Amino acid sequence: MENFTTLGQFVIEKQQDFPYAKGELSRLLRDIGIASKIISREVNKAGLTNILGDHGSVNVQDEDVKKLDIIGNETFIATFSKGGEVCVIASEENEGIIPLKGTFSKNGKYVICMDPLDGSSNIDVNVSIGTIFSIYKRVTEVGTEPTEADVLQAGNKLVAAGYVLYGTSTMLVFSTGNGVNAFTLDPSIGEFCLSHANIKSPDNGKIYSINEGNAAEFPQGIKDYLTWVKEEDKTTDRPYTSRYIGSMVADFHRNLLKGGVFIYPPTAKSPNGKLRLLFEGIPMSYIAEQAGGLATTSTMRILDVEPTKIHQRVPIIMGSKNMVNKVLEFMNK
Ligand code: AHG
Ligand code: MN
Ligand code: MN
Repeated sequence: MENFTTLGQFVIEKQQDFPYAKGELSRLLRDIGIASKIISREVNKAGLTNILGDHGSVNVQDEDVKKLDIIGNETFIATFSKGGEVCVIASEENEGIIPLKGTFSKNGKYVICMDPLDGSSNIDVNVSIGTIFSIYKRVTEVGTEPTEADVLQAGNKLVAAGYVLYGTSTMLVFSTGNGVNAFTLDPSIGEFCLSHANIKSPDNGKIYSINEGNAAEFPQGIKDYLTWVKEEDKTTDRPYTSRYIGSMVADFHRNLLKGGVFIYPPTAKSPNGKLRLLFEGIPMSYIAEQAGGLATTSTMRILDVEPTKIHQRVPIIMGSKNMVNKVLEFMNK
C-alpha cells in the first residue's frame, strides 16, 4: 500500500484545526477540490477541443465556443450551488455579487470570492494558469439575503484561502490560518495528494517578478530597486534573476518555493496597479503571510486594506520577507 494522504483524508484529520463550523468548511474545501479537477481536465484537453479562442464565437457544430475563464467561472458557481454552505459569491468574471439559488442565499454561512481563471493571456499558448479563492464567514444574519457587505471584507477576516495551479501538474495550495499545505493531483487515481506539508517560504531569494515593460511608468523607488537588482555584488548575491510568466498564480508559486518577490506596482496609467484586491491581492497575501512571507501595498499590509468596491485594485509587493523589506527600503527613500 502506498503511503499518501489525500485531500479528503487531510481535511478530516485536521478538522479540529479549522476555525468555525468544521464540517461545513471541510465540505467547501472538498467542493473546491472537485471543481478544480473539472477545470484541470478541461485545461488539459484545451488544445484538442474548441474551448480555445474568444468567448462569443460559434464552432462548426454551431455550439457556443466557451473560453476557459467562462467554463471555470460556471464550474465553480455550479459546484458551490449544490452544497448549501455558501450564501454568496463574488467573481472576477461578474460585475456584482452572485447570491446562491433557492434557500442557500439565506441559509449558507460562507462567502466565496474567486478569480476562476488567473492568467487568461496564457490560456491559448499552453502556459500555466490558475484559480484563486477566498472563504469568509458572512457578516449579514443567517436567514436574511446576503449583501455586498458580505464580500467586502478585509483579508484579516479570512477563514481560508488558496489557489490551484494548472501547471506541469495540477496543485491545490491552501491555508485555513494554520500554515500552508499543497496537494498535487495524481491523475491515475483522480485524487489530490499531500505533496508539500507546511510550506515555509525562504526569507531570502534572488528572483524578482515584475512586468518590466511598464518600467517607464513605475514609481521612482521601484525603478531604483530594478537598477539595484541588476548590479553585481557577491555579498548580496546580485545580480538577481528575473522571472515573469504573466500568470500571478504561477509566478507566486515559484517564488513561494524558491524565494522571490512578486511586484505589481502602481503605474502612471493605473495608480492602484492592475491586480484586484478581493480576487488576487487578499488571497495570495494570506498564503504569503501564512508561509512566513510578507505582502504590502508599499504603505500598508494588504490583509488590512478595507475593500470598498468589488473590483477594487491594489498595488502589490509580496513574497520572501527580506526581499519585500528591501523593496520597501527603496520605496521609502
Ligand atoms: P487575469 O487573467 O485573472 O485577468 O489575471 C491576469 C493578471 C495576473 O495573473 C498577472 O500577474 C497579471 O495579470 C499580468 O499582467 P501584465 O500582463 O500587465 O503583466
Ligand atoms: Mn487574475
Ligand atoms: Mn481571471
